[in-house]
Parts: sequence; C-alpha cells; structure tokens
Amino acid sequence: MKKMTSLILSGILMLCFSCSQTVPKNEEITEAEPLPKDERMEWWRDAKFGMFIHWGAYAVPGGERNGEICKGGAEWIMDKLDYTIEDYEKEVVANFNPTQFDAKRWVAMAKDAGMKYIVLTSKHHDGFCLWDSKVSDYDIMEASPFKRDIVRELSDACKEAGIKFGLYHSIVDWHHPNAQAPLYPNYNAGQKDSTAFNPDFPKYYENYLKPQVKELLTNYGDVDVVWFDGDWIPDYTTEMGKDMYSMILDIQPQTIVNNRVDKGRKGMEGMDKEGNFAGDFGTPEQEIPATGIASDWESCMTMNGSWGYKPSDTNWKSSETLIENLVDIVSKGGNFLLNVGPDPQGLFPQESVERLAALGDWTDTNGEAIYGAKASPYARPDWGRYTSKDGVIYAHVFDWPKDGKLTINSDIKAKKITLVADAAQNLSYNGEKSQITLPGQAPDAYVSVVKIEL
Ligand code: GLC
Repeated sequence: MKKMTSLILSGILMLCFSCSQTVPKNEEITEAEPLPKDERMEWWRDAKFGMFIHWGAYAVPGGERNGEICKGGAEWIMDKLDYTIEDYEKEVVANFNPTQFDAKRWVAMAKDAGMKYIVLTSKHHDGFCLWDSKVSDYDIMEASPFKRDIVRELSDACKEAGIKFGLYHSIVDWHHPNAQAPLYPNYNAGQKDSTAFNPDFPKYYENYLKPQVKELLTNYGDVDVVWFDGDWIPDYTTEMGKDMYSMILDIQPQTIVNNRVDKGRKGMEGMDKEGNFAGDFGTPEQEIPATGIASDWESCMTMNGSWGYKPSDTNWKSSETLIENLVDIVSKGGNFLLNVGPDPQGLFPQESVERLAALGDWTDTNGEAIYGAKASPYARPDWGRYTSKDGVIYAHVFDWPKDGKLTINSDIKAKKITLVADAAQNLSYNGEKSQITLPGQAPDAYVSVVKIEL
C-alpha cells in the first residue's frame, strides 16, 4: 500500500517538476519507509543489558498443580500438567489478580541494575493477553479480575524513566481454536508431533495474531523491540514471518525485531546469513555462544531455571555468575537479556531483587567498560575477559592474581593503565613481560576492571 502511494506520489511529483531541475530525491517522498538497520540497531548495540519479564496468569500456579511440579519453565504449566482450556481459564486466569503490581517500581529496579531496556511478555503460549485487547476477550480486562492494562502501565513507566520498551509475543497460542493442531488433544506445541498442522492456522494468523500485534504497535507509543517466540510450529511459515516483519516496520519504522519472527534461526543461535529470513538479531537461549556470532545477537537467560515464577526452583545463579555472564557476552559482541519472573501478586522474587541490586552495584562502578563497548579484538585471557572501545581495552579480571601480576596479551600496546573503580591510581606496567602490577586487594568482590589506554 505504502509502496503504491509512493509510486503515485512520485508520478505526480515527476509531472510537476518535469520542466525544472529540482526533482526530489526518493528519500524525500518515502519518509515512512523503515529506517536502515544500522540506524534502528544503534541504541540496542550500545545498551548491552536488558530485562526480560515473563509474566502472565501462569504465575498463579507457579509451576505446581495439585502437588505436582511441572518440569522446565513454569510458563509451560498449561501444556506440561495437562490443563484443558476450561480448567486453565477457571483455575489460573480467573485468579490472576496481581494487586501489588507497580510498573514504576519494576522499571526502577531494572534501571538501578544497569539495564537499558525491558521486554515484557504481552502474550505467552497460553494465549492470555496482558493488555486491553479489542481483538480478544481472553485478556486482562475481560478474563481476569485485575482489569488494569499491564502493557500500558509498563510502557508508560518505561517512557517516563527513559528506558526502552519491548514486547515478547508468542506465535503459539494454546487457547485459540485455529491455532490448535488437530493431531493431539489440546495444544499445538510442535515438538510433540512435528507434522501437526491446523488448516485454519492462516485464519488465526490473519484475523488474530496480526491484528493483535498491530494493536500493540499502534496503541502504546514506541515499541522499541518486538520479540517473537513459537516460530517452531509447522503451521507458521516463512511467508508469514516476512509479512509480519514488514507490517511491523510499516507501523514502527524505527523498531527492531528478533529472528524468531521468521523460520531462519539456527538452533538457539543466530540466523541464516544469506538474508533469506526476516529478523534483526539472533537469540541464543540459556547459553552464551563460545566465540560469539558474526551478526547481532542477544543471549536470554533465567536467574534460576524457569522463565515464569516457580518458587520450587531454588537453583539460583550467583550474582558473581550473572556479572561474569554479562561481561562474557559483551566481550563477544552480544547483549544480555536477563529474566525476572514476577509472582502472582506482582512482586519480583526476593532472590531476583538481590541479584539485580548486585548487578546494579557492579554496573554503577564499571558501566564504562560495558555500555557502548565492543567485542574483544584479542584472544581470551585465562584470568577473565576483554571488552574494547576506541583506543581503550578493558581487562575484566575474574580471578585476581595472588602475586599481584596481571599478564596481558603481548599484542596490546599499553600507554596508561588505571582501575575503572579508581581512575586516580596509575598502575605500573612492564612492557617486556606485558605485566601490570595490581594493588593487592581487588577493588570489586566479583569482577574488577583495569582500563588500558592504547
Ligand atoms: C522458549 C520457551 C519459553 C520462553 C522462551 C524465552 O522457547 O518456549 O517458555 O519464553 O523461549 O526465550
């Protein structure tokens, strides 16, 4: 449509200007075209660190039904513990009333942790919508007692705090009749039967999924990231993926979209390099690629083992591990999207709050070596990682050497060396041995950063 309009427009303009030399250039008449990828990605490439929020009605059972605990992510409970749609509506969605939800508090915690963007689940595989949807009654206004538009409140709070706002949206929908594959009773999880196919899925795509995404991209101001999931089901095609991607950029020419909008992801990682598939960045899940990936990528990860709230899972990663993961990812050129699964009242689990605070303390001091930093151009040292900026290498020391001597890569030509935590303290350097003399005490309990100016 847009292309047609611009063709007609350029025809008219050609006629008007045919006698003069001032024929306008193409870009002057196609201003709603998507921005070039580099421009759209710029803030995100610098941001490095974001918060994933998996929240929905599944927080109510928290991974447990009649004493049975579901395996894996608690957001899968509907499938894992065999709820019928009716049971799920009655037992789960009708009881979702998170009266303690305070969007400003969530955003403040993300910001204080040093995160620059938030990606919230507008709809997970269970199909329940966290916003006021005119396309569906299975939403927060109609199907739950809460009746507050969660997407609106979080989007407003992000905008007020100057933090970017994104939405995760599931292609899989266990509630919509046209998205149910007929070969097994309730749901359409492709893993169960990869030949499962619902001939009405295109109707779901055209009349439900697309209008929903359109609604989200039209009514909430800028949506800075659109993060799809559920691309694996056989009913979803690459044609749909490309169509979805172009619809999104028509509405929000500045936004970025993950690779799961199309069918081009390679395992959990990046995407087809030949440009055969839509999407702007790869999404390694619960893993950090050993050497990074050539294109843009973001590792998403849970703090315990579940995306959704699951109090029975006490296998929390330590703050030290999470800080090291952030550094590891940035040293390989990626972003870190760290998940929180809020509880049914709307609160972050205490374990998450503590870890976010530790990440905040660390990024407060050492953010200079993370935000806007690039992958290390040097081989990985045994004691930690490098990140880089123009003319500067940051040495992130995971293991502070007992003898106080830090040997850096011999191809680094150091001019001036200080601690990021203490810019006033010049550290001495033996160029022949490529050895920095460190203070006896590491400035940080987890990862201390040495700034090497070249
Ligand atoms: C998965 C899971 C899911 C989670 C997600 C995060 O594919 O199905 O529950 O939302 O990935 O990346």
